[in-house]
Amino acid sequence: MKSPIGIFDSGYGGLTVLKSIREKLPNYDYIYLGDNARAPYGTRSFEVVYQYTLEAVKYLFSLDCQLIVLACNTASAKALRTIQQNDLPNLFPERRVLGVLRPTTEEIGNYSKSDYVGVLGTSGTVRSNSYVIEIEKFFPSVKVTQQSCPMWVPLVENNSFLEKGGQYFIEKYIDEILTKQPAIDTLILACTHYPLLKESILKYVPSGVKVVDQGSLVAEKLNDYLQRHSTLETKLSKNNDLTILTTEKAEKFDQHLNLFYNNLVKSSTVSLH
Ligand code: DGL
Repeated sequence: MKSPIGIFDSGYGGLTVLKSIREKLPNYDYIYLGDNARAPYGTRSFEVVYQYTLEAVKYLFSLDCQLIVLACNTASAKALRTIQQNDLPNLFPERRVLGVLRPTTEEIGNYSKSDYVGVLGTSGTVRSNSYVIEIEKFFPSVKVTQQSCPMWVPLVENNSFLEKGGQYFIEKYIDEILTKQPAIDTLILACTHYPLLKESILKYVPSGVKVVDQGSLVAEKLNDYLQRHSTLETKLSKNNDLTILTTEKAEKFDQHLNLFYNNLVKSSTVSLH
């Protein structure tokens, strides 16, 4: 029987995390689910993000995923805790759902020399204050400045970030956060869509400022997690399989997928309810 690892995002962004996870842990089977039909999540209320994320989690459980990574900061910030504490015990107490916030906040202080860190995220992630609260736990001396970048996910989902208007919004949010706090020396791309904009982002970030994306941090922590949870790990199937699912049209998703898999992988459309 197959017991893949489920990777979930509102859209294409989680593909950046999937890529790093598969580089680190290539033998496992994976199912990626992008809820592109309802993206972006970043501007939606707590209740809606929770409801959509729970639907996705239940769907991945119905495909026998034993372990799910919410490769989405908005879902990790707004839905993960409730799912872990309230839903999982009733649904499948022995299965696990993990997020991307913890792997990032546990490490980020080690990147900064000035102790000033900037968080670039969706409005939902920024409003949840989760990064500020979590970083404070691991690195009490680090001062966090946040910036919501509401145009960035639509720019990725619509593939329009290279256009003049797209570049304007990329520069704008970088300028805003660095004006709020010029001592920042480390910027977290706290949305899994943003690494897809990284080349453009780097054009507007001064050379002394590090830009950290989450993929490798999440992959590293997942590897540790699997080593520490051998009962769960032995249930996972290892055939090097990859299935990609989207709630939007598959042809549309495949255009983004080609950036990662060069036409070798195709997606299928599913409905979550
Ligand atoms: N990739 C999601 C995140 O990391 C995007 C959120 C959205 O759909 O707005 O937050």
